[in-house]
Amino acid sequence: MYDGFEINGMNQRPLRGNKVLITCFAVTLFLHGATARAEDGYRLWLRYDSLPRNTIDAYRPHVTSLVVQSNSPTFDAIRKELVNGCSGLLDNAVPIVKQVDRDGVVVVGTPESSPLIASLKWQRPLAELGPEGFRIRSTRMARHTVTVIASNGEVGALYGSFHFLRLLQTLQPIDKLDINEKPRLQLRMLNHWDNLDGTIERGYAGQSLWDWKSLPEKLDPRLRDYARANASLGINGSVLNNVNANAQILTDEYLHKTAALAGVFRPYGVHVYLAARFSAPIDLGGLKTADPLDPDVLAWWKKKADEIYRLIPDFGGFIVKANSEGQPGPRTYNRTHVDGANMLAAALAPHHGVVIWRAFVYDMKPGYDRAGAAYENLQPFDGQFAPNVLLQVKNGPIDFQPREPFHPLFGGMPKTQVMPEFQITQEYLGFSNHLVFLSQMWREVLDSDTYARGRGSTVTKVVNGSLFGQRITGMAGVANTGSDQNWTGHHFLQANWYAFGRLSWNPDLTSRQIAEEWIRMTFTRDPNAVTMIARIMLESHSALVDYMTPLGLHHIMWAEHHYGPAPWWDKEKRADWNPVYYHRADSIGLGFDRTQTGSNTVSQYYPPVRERFSNLATCPEEFLLWFHHVKWDYHLHSGHTLWDELGLHYQHGVDWVRVTRKQWNGLANVIDPERHAEVAKKLAIQERDAIWWKDAVLLYFQTFAKRPLPVGVEKPQKTLEEYEAKSLVW
Ligand code: GCU
Repeated sequence: MYDGFEINGMNQRPLRGNKVLITCFAVTLFLHGATARAEDGYRLWLRYDSLPRNTIDAYRPHVTSLVVQSNSPTFDAIRKELVNGCSGLLDNAVPIVKQVDRDGVVVVGTPESSPLIASLKWQRPLAELGPEGFRIRSTRMARHTVTVIASNGEVGALYGSFHFLRLLQTLQPIDKLDINEKPRLQLRMLNHWDNLDGTIERGYAGQSLWDWKSLPEKLDPRLRDYARANASLGINGSVLNNVNANAQILTDEYLHKTAALAGVFRPYGVHVYLAARFSAPIDLGGLKTADPLDPDVLAWWKKKADEIYRLIPDFGGFIVKANSEGQPGPRTYNRTHVDGANMLAAALAPHHGVVIWRAFVYDMKPGYDRAGAAYENLQPFDGQFAPNVLLQVKNGPIDFQPREPFHPLFGGMPKTQVMPEFQITQEYLGFSNHLVFLSQMWREVLDSDTYARGRGSTVTKVVNGSLFGQRITGMAGVANTGSDQNWTGHHFLQANWYAFGRLSWNPDLTSRQIAEEWIRMTFTRDPNAVTMIARIMLESHSALVDYMTPLGLHHIMWAEHHYGPAPWWDKEKRADWNPVYYHRADSIGLGFDRTQTGSNTVSQYYPPVRERFSNLATCPEEFLLWFHHVKWDYHLHSGHTLWDELGLHYQHGVDWVRVTRKQWNGLANVIDPERHAEVAKKLAIQERDAIWWKDAVLLYFQTFAKRPLPVGVEKPQKTLEEYEAKSLVW
């Protein structure tokens, strides 16, 4: 377990004492440090090892001591983080002092609790930044140079402190700071799909971080590190349990456990939310119905909400998966999604809680296209949801595929508060085995132009509220964390947690900026290595799409576990759970026709997006087979036929992994051996899987295309029968 605070504290103070102490502590440090410094990835991006010498020399005059006048659990956290961070990074004990009595003091606080901050008279700018925003400024106080980190809210001061540490960690100048930051979105939350038995649905990094059995008595110190990591990114919400919810979570017993977790997270500004099972009034309350229009049902939820807020006054609210994949919901009682959401909203409203209603709803109907289902089910209710309801919409219309066009509900519901749901955990993207930087994929969606209010109506503008004046805004990410020592199962996939947090704070950040920050904080500050690793990360998503689902293919994974290819699969009880439903390969061609000649769900997009997707010549090639059934001999922009181009994409994906492995091997001298070796091992799995994907998919589609593999595509390693016989093992 990481105990960096103690180590770094010890690391510094004694070195200024007498020689005996120095030797004694040096030995302790060496012994202690050897275990604590194991490069197991536990410390995430919050690593406070000493910076390069010349940077330390430049920084030290600006960070001589810290003044944090206020007292509260959040300010305790700020003090600890700054002492630990600054002392570690600057290789010198940075003490907490009471007054600005020298140059280079860092002063942190709120005007309310710190006379020093109040004396600056920053009321107006701080009010504009809000309680989570902050101002960092180089200025003078009591005739000394100081750096001020100020906010109107304690959590804002904490975010500012993490921001300041990030500046040091990424070697930014700190002598003339003038930073004003505030989150662009209000709800920045992780969705944990954690079950009460400790397993995680679609989790690939061990067990749940919440040990329900030993709660509320025992609180693992790791919980605080989880909250710290989130706070360092500005993530302010955590849904603790699976959207396929167990009603037990709402029992008195589990609410006390939940309250204990909320207590650990509170100083870090992380609010807890719960996934509520719609049938809870029946499951727990003994009612005969969960009909949202039944007064007893509403009364039950009101009472439950009161009970929750008595225990957890800052509880965030409920997330609900209703009438989706077997979950109960208002439709079970012939009521609508609005009836259901608004009933729960009424129960939470007196406590200022929100209802996050998921749009992931798809009923099986004859001749239906699953890609159009969420829109059909929810769009008609635009404008009818209560003011404390948000509709949580997956980034694409199907289900977290390696690449999907943006969901037509973005822009499609101007009078509804919509927030995107991204999947950080890699259900369809190689679990925690494949290196893929998801910021690129999320950026593609955020940058998509919906044309809802003409050109420039990007998803970002829908989401940040600027397009339709949405009052409550947010972004959710299905977490990839678990009990694995490195949190995410693969060192590089910490970057996806990081990127999600950074984008939810500011959805305009570029992937390059996020990647470079993360690399410098997590792996290395060597400029050449940063450039190379950033390139690998930035290319990784498109490479993964190449070896899994190029040109708009989707959902051709092995059924149920979703790891590895199985385009032949047609045995699931619902047609739309089978890969064959999605690719529609036949002797003529490949792809799902969603234009007027097919399902016409392309009509859910605004013009001219709809026309662009509908027309074979203008449809972006990355979505070709998503919207069109394309002839094997159709010529793409490259001049190649569909069949040849498909093969070349798969081969390119494989080649990319091979080159990446070589490049990673070349970085052995700049990355610590432990993490270097672990990543190398994962890359070997990724290469094996990429080949498997290429071979299995091409061999299968070849049975329809009846053409030879194009020149440049390697011969498959096994036969189709062999690939079909067993699923890839992870
Ligand atoms: C996917 C996933 C499920 C999950 C569902 C959801 O279908 O496979 O495990 O429950 O999405 O988002 O609700």
